[in-house]
Amino acid sequence: MSVDMKNQVREALEQVLVPEVMRSVVQMNLVRDVEVAGGAVKVTLASTAMAGEIQNTVREMVMAVVGKVPGVTGTTVDFVEAKPKEINQIGKVIAVMSGKGGVGKSLVTGLLAIFLARSGKSVGILDADVTGSSIPKMFGLKIHPRGSESGIVPVLSRSGIETMAMNVLLDNEDDAVIWRGPLMSKVITQFWEEVLWGKLDYLVVDLPPGTGDAALTVMQTIPLTGVIEVFTPQDLTEMIVMKAVKMAQKMNVHVLGVVENMSYLVLPDSGKKMEVFGPSKAGKMAEAAGAPLLGVLPIEPEVARLCDAGDIEKYDSDAAAELFKNIIAALNDKDAK
Ligand SMILES: Nc1ncnc2c1ncn2[C@@H]1O[C@H](COP(=O)(O)OP(=O)(O)OP(=O)(O)O)[C@@H](O)[C@H]1O
Ligand SMILES: [Mg+2]
Repeated sequence: MSVDMKNQVREALEQVLVPEVMRSVVQMNLVRDVEVAGGAVKVTLASTAMAGEIQNTVREMVMAVVGKVPGVTGTTVDFVEAKPKEINQIGKVIAVMSGKGGVGKSLVTGLLAIFLARSGKSVGILDADVTGSSIPKMFGLKIHPRGSESGIVPVLSRSGIETMAMNVLLDNEDDAVIWRGPLMSKVITQFWEEVLWGKLDYLVVDLPPGTGDAALTVMQTIPLTGVIEVFTPQDLTEMIVMKAVKMAQKMNVHVLGVVENMSYLVLPDSGKKMEVFGPSKAGKMAEAAGAPLLGVLPIEPEVARLCDAGDIEKYDSDAAAELFKNIIAALNDKDAK
């Protein structure tokens, strides 16, 4: 009987949304304990990232929903302290990197998160490009994250993707962030350890270009399932991609595969493919990296428009669907190994 009631209480707690994240206390993994004695129920929640007034709101919501469970005569709600690091349960972490700037890492990061979310997964994006963060702009995120002494709550995108980036913390998103390596590494570590991500199936990490401090910190601090290397079919990219691949190998991080972005342009009048940056190097690059080709993305004016408008979540295309199907398969493959 009491086991049954416990389960019903846990189910009821799924209706209690943490303000601003709008995910439940269960999804955020904040439920530490549920005790039932006769009709008396005691719910213990972690107070992580919740200021006093938010705790009160959450307490009232818990009492309201638990009070409706048949047989419950009284509810008490206790809060205990816990660090985000102890609460977070993140399934797979994928970092998107490239030796070169402007090749579409942030686009691939954003779209990967979007396609995973569309397939029903819970997803977060950690923008590790501290000085050149572009995820908030792509997703049109304007609000500042809330939090308390014990942690920060990520900003939720329109389609429910949790995001954390440097410029949502700034007063003005155009403020210049000029930092040296150690401070940047500290911010990335904080994004990993002090953000309340809760339970996530996937976290996608957007890296700045190159193989510098940010990439090193991410590879050292975050248990990565693997990295995806992005490139365009331009001169020199082979050498640059290989630099990033070698770094991953040296750090014992699995290379899930490579993605060629801006591979071609479909001419609107004739429907012909034009290889703007020269012939595709996709096969050659995959071979050099010793990793599968996950897919290619064309140049699409619509992509640039949606990125600029903060509306990337509206994007869809067959090429992207194919690419992200392959990435999900590569992630599942990694499980089997
Ligand atoms: N396939 C594409 N079609 C059209 N525009 C694209 C495409 N890929 C990227 N872009 C545009 O190119 C610009 C650079 O893309 P993005 O920011 O994703 O690159 P990045 O590798 O993350 O750059 P950085 O090195 O600065 O972090 C963006 O304005 C984006 O909208
Ligand atoms: Mg970027």
